[in-house]
Amino acid sequence: MSMPRIFLVGFMGAGKSSVGASLADRLSLGFIDLDGEISRRLGAPIPEIFARYGEETFRATETDELARCADLADIVVATGGGAFCSDANRDVIHRSGGVSVFLDLPWAVLRQRLLRDHSDRPMYDDTNQARLLFEERLPHYTCASVRVSLAGEEHPDEVAERVMAMLREAPCAI
Ligand code: S3P
Repeated sequence: MSMPRIFLVGFMGAGKSSVGASLADRLSLGFIDLDGEISRRLGAPIPEIFARYGEETFRATETDELARCADLADIVVATGGGAFCSDANRDVIHRSGGVSVFLDLPWAVLRQRLLRDHSDRPMYDDTNQARLLFEERLPHYTCASVRVSLAGEEHPDEVAERVMAMLREAPCAI
C-alpha cells in the first residue's frame, strides 16, 4: 500500500486531529496538524490570529502551510474545517498526489460536539450559523477522494482502521 500523503477533511468537530494522529501512528507516517502549523508560523493561537489579523490572513497562511505539506512525503495532515472549501487548496492537495479523506458525521453529532466545545473556534457563532456553514461546505467536502460515513460514536482508532480499509480499496490510493 503506497499512501504518501493523506489529508483529513471535514467540518469542525469531526475528529480530524485525533483520527489523524491515530492513522499516522498505525501507518508509521508523520502527523501534521495544519492549525498547529499556522499557530506556530504566526506565533499565536487560532482565536487570537482571527482577532488580531482577521480571517483573510488566517486563510492565506493556511493555503501556504497546506502547500508546504503537499511537498512532504509520508504524512497524514489534519486540516481545519475550512481548508478544503477553497478550490485552490483542493487543487494543491490533489495535484500533489495527495489523498483527501472526508470524515462525514451527521449534523446532529457535530452540533452536540460544537455546543460543548466551541470556545477556540472563531468560525462558530451559534448552532444556526454553524448549521448554515455546514450546509454550505458539504458540497466541497464531497469532492474528497474518499468519504468515510460515521455515526459519531466510533473511537478515533476505529475510525482510523476504517479509513485504512477504505484507502486499501480506493484506486486513487494504491
Ligand atoms: C475553521 C476550523 C478550525 C480552524 C479555524 C477555522 C473553519 O479547525 O482551522 O478555526 O473554518 O471551519 P477545526 O476544524 O479543527 O475546528
